[in-house]
Amino acid sequence: MLHHFLYVSDLAEEYPCDFQKIIANAAMTNSACDVTGALWSDGRHFVQLLEGQKAALELVFHDKIASARSHTNIRMLSSGDWEQRLFPDWSMAYLGSGSDTRQIAESLIGRKKFSIRDCSANELINLLTILEKFRQDSAGIAI
Ligand SMILES: Cc1cc2nc3c(=O)[nH]c(=O)nc-3n(C[C@H](O)[C@H](O)[C@H](O)COP(=O)(O)O)c2cc1C
Repeated sequence: MLHHFLYVSDLAEEYPCDFQKIIANAAMTNSACDVTGALWSDGRHFVQLLEGQKAALELVFHDKIASARSHTNIRMLSSGDWEQRLFPDWSMAYLGSGSDTRQIAESLIGRKKFSIRDCSANELINLLTILEKFRQDSAGIAI
C-alpha cells in the first residue's frame, strides 16, 4: 500500500544549508528505497512530500531526514495512505528556494509575506504540484 509523509521544518540558522548536497544524498537513498517526492523552500522553511511504502518512508525519515543538521523544528503535517504518486519520475524533485517560486506561491495562496508555516497540508500539496509544473515548463532538471 502506497503511503505519504508531508512535513515542514525550519532551515537551521547556525548551519550552512547546502541544497545540492541535500538533494544529491536524498536522490541516492530515495531511488534505492523506491521513494519519490518533492522538496521546496521559501528561504526560511522547508516543505517535503515523500511517497512510497510505509517502511521505506519511515526508514528515510528517521535515519536520514530527522538527523540532518540543515533543519530543525520538523513537524509532520500529514501522513497515511496515498492513492497514487504525484511525483512518480522524481526520486526527489527540488523545486527551488528562490524568489520566483515564492512569488508563484504568494499569488496562488493569496497571502503576502508568504510562509510555508502558515499553509495547510492541502495548500502545500497543491503548491508542490504547481511548482513542479512551473519548473518543468522552465526546463527544470529531474534527478
Ligand atoms: C530538508 C531536507 C530534506 C531531506 N530529504 C531527504 C530525503 O528525501 N532522503 C534522504 O535520504 N535524505 C534526505 N535528507 C538528508 C540529506 O540528504 C543529507 O543526508 C543531509 O542533509 C546531510 O546532513 P546534514 O544536513 O546534517 O549536513 C534531507 C535533509 C534535509 C535537510
